[in-house]
Amino acid sequence: MNPEIKRKLRMGLVGGGGAAFIGKVHAIAATLDNRARLCAGALSSNRQRAKDSAPAFGIREDRAYSSFHDLLEYETHLDEEDRIDFLSIATPNHTHAEIAIAAMQAGFHVVCDKPMTTTLNDAQALVKAVEDTGRIFALTHNYTGYPMIRQARELIASGEIGDVLAVRSSYLQGWLTTFDTNADAARGVWKTDPEKAGSGSLGDIGTHAFNLIRFVTGLTVNKIAATVETLHSSRLLDDYGVVQMRLENGTLGLITYSQMTHGRLNDFSLEIDGTRGALLWNQESPNQLIVRRQGQSTEIMERHPGGQYMLELARQSTRIPGGHPEGFYEAFANVYRAAFDDMARNIANGFHPGINTLYPNVYDGLEGVRFIERVQESASSNSQWLEF
Ligand SMILES: NC(=O)c1ccc[n+]([C@@H]2O[C@H](COP(=O)([O-])OP(=O)(O)OC[C@H]3O[C@@H](n4cnc5c(N)ncnc54)[C@H](O)[C@@H]3O)[C@@H](O)[C@H]2O)c1
Repeated sequence: MNPEIKRKLRMGLVGGGGAAFIGKVHAIAATLDNRARLCAGALSSNRQRAKDSAPAFGIREDRAYSSFHDLLEYETHLDEEDRIDFLSIATPNHTHAEIAIAAMQAGFHVVCDKPMTTTLNDAQALVKAVEDTGRIFALTHNYTGYPMIRQARELIASGEIGDVLAVRSSYLQGWLTTFDTNADAARGVWKTDPEKAGSGSLGDIGTHAFNLIRFVTGLTVNKIAATVETLHSSRLLDDYGVVQMRLENGTLGLITYSQMTHGRLNDFSLEIDGTRGALLWNQESPNQLIVRRQGQSTEIMERHPGGQYMLELARQSTRIPGGHPEGFYEAFANVYRAAFDDMARNIANGFHPGINTLYPNVYDGLEGVRFIERVQESASSNSQWLEF
């Protein structure tokens, strides 16, 4: 229930049908707190599969559409109390801009997966669509939703580790070492297709690392220099990269991303060196934040709503008592929860948040796409330093 409007928000979903991955996560995360109900979907690029997938999502036959065009067309003509409030987009990267812009022009709020678009032009068009329509737009850089990531953000903001001197993130996976575009055709083949993905591992996971650095430190990026490789002999898109950055105040930044590291599953870590201490978080142990101070014993902050060390934002971002693992779905749901606050306010009184939101928004998405383009530009000019 959303207090401002005294009802659940009505959700539409594009993608997620058949063997697809992240659409199902959206469906679970958006409804985890009983603040939304999935009512309509265009779940696949295959018209029949789009309809066949709907019952498993609890979507009624008359709201199971065979394309997003049909969904927008029919939903806009439903009574106001029936039609969807927002559309979640969980489709390949090259489709995001068209679907999101059409949805906002039809009057719906949007939650879109990352990277926001495959070109800077599309990203700018999306920013314009948000500004013109006044709709709420959230981008699911879901790692920003982890309680202990939010704890790290609050610790840094309160000066607990002093000035931020350097930040390192590595995001390592191994699935591209053995991924077979024929045998594994059920899902994700588009990720190796330049037309559909735009970039390879850079857009897929490098943008998460970039976004998390920005979210946790709050520091803007001034300069960037990158080396990008395609280590797999039969691929067209990058699968490994090293990105150096100079952030505000001279802070050093380093991102290593790889989908060619045998045996790594979703090994995403963030480490921050401050003048008074250092922080380390790893996605594979997401309920812990490690705090180190030279000469002192290492402190492990466990996600625990009753913990006296838990800062307000982190505490509010947990749902269950400490010791019960929270993870991917809950963090994803935290991004939704913050977006729902703004959607409900928008529906109640026309509120629009502008540039700063707790959830990643269209401006963060634009930055992410600029990050992709700058990295590619630097990599193709001998790793030259470029203004960001
Ligand atoms: N936030 C995260 O952690 C995370 C994780 C994985 C993927 N993603 C992002 O989510 C998006 C989808 O990735 P995925 O791994 O679920 O891909 P996937 O290949 O598993 O699924 C894509 C789905 O979209 C459908 N689709 C394609 N075009 C469509 C259209 N025009 N209309 C309706 N449905 C359409 C496909 O039929 C399929 O069901 C990508 O942008 C990806 O980068 C984000």
